[in-house]
Amino acid sequence: MSDKKRFTSSRKLDHLRICAEEAVECGETGFSDIRFVHNALPECDMGTIDTLVRFLNHSFRSPLFISAMTGGHPATKEVNARLARAAEHYGIGIGVGSQRAALENKALADTFSVVRDEAPGAFIVGNLGVVQLRDHGIEWAEKAVEMIGADAIAIHLNFLQEAIQPEGDHNATGCFAALEDLCREFKTPVIVKETGCGISAFTSRKCWGAGVSAIDIGGWGGTSWAAVESVRAAESSTADMRLKTLGETFSEWGIPTAVSLAEVLSTGGPVIASGGIRSGGDIAKGLALGADLCGMALPLLRPAMESDEALSGAIEMVQNELITTMFLTGSATVADLKSAPLYIMGRTRQMIGKDNPVRAQRYH
Ligand code: FNR
Repeated sequence: MSDKKRFTSSRKLDHLRICAEEAVECGETGFSDIRFVHNALPECDMGTIDTLVRFLNHSFRSPLFISAMTGGHPATKEVNARLARAAEHYGIGIGVGSQRAALENKALADTFSVVRDEAPGAFIVGNLGVVQLRDHGIEWAEKAVEMIGADAIAIHLNFLQEAIQPEGDHNATGCFAALEDLCREFKTPVIVKETGCGISAFTSRKCWGAGVSAIDIGGWGGTSWAAVESVRAAESSTADMRLKTLGETFSEWGIPTAVSLAEVLSTGGPVIASGGIRSGGDIAKGLALGADLCGMALPLLRPAMESDEALSGAIEMVQNELITTMFLTGSATVADLKSAPLYIMGRTRQMIGKDNPVRAQRYH
């Protein structure tokens, strides 16, 4: 195996370990500025609340989506297997981590294909960086989809991380054209996904124009890749303190998830809300603002590294919180929740702006 290939694979393990062990969450999603109006006479039965949703022509028993995390090193296979078993069992969608390592080295493909093996009926989203798409073309996207029998492919945007990685790609030119080419020629739905800095109305209009099928906003307020790369820089054998500081400074960079969600929804859909979603209450807020699914990564990582039982416990807690929130807003279905009244306050209210239809319709 070449040094480059070995490096991509071992970096995957560094990321998993750092995310599981270090403080890598930064910022505020804006969800604390959003409150549901309590419904003291909810007139629905908590025991029959229905969390079914549809997204890209698939049905999901819950709007909780397992965001892209892992694969690409032999030690990650069991984590992906656990996440996949949970997705199959709970009828929820799942994304795999960047498939680049397995496209560089076929021997790693089973760390991703285990997801399809363990979740034959689940909606599975493949994953490739936009830089790899630009450099390797549609062929890599086709191979990524084939590797896991994917129902959609996420093209991730991570230029903050690239800027701080010592080995990062600092040239973003040609990426949008590559995205346009993919959307024009690919049969599988394409989801554009940020990884912690959020997507603006401006960028989402460009993406819809390119023909993407959905946008995963990956907003600011959860896992920060600037923070992760800052830890990696400090740990490296040539400890690069300049990159460590750059990472710390830019962990403040990004569009808060609630604001990004409102911006993207004002331009179209469907949309996955993600970045700092930490409870079923946050999922309910994302749905009430207009999201179709809500993605969680970090909160599911530690339980997935521990056991199937720990992961089930985490997912059931989130689902209970969602159902309780639906009950207390009188929402028997997700469609009801989408029209539940909200208070939108503080900085989030200022940033969303008066003219945004999400705020205009939903501010109580
Ligand atoms: C990620 N994320 C990610 N995203 C992506 O598109 N490709 C990837 O390979 C990875 N890898 C990855 C590894 C680990 C360990 C974590 C925690 C996350 C980003 C992830 O999908 C999500 O966008 C962000 O983590 C924000 O969500 P949370 O973690 O705040 O819920």
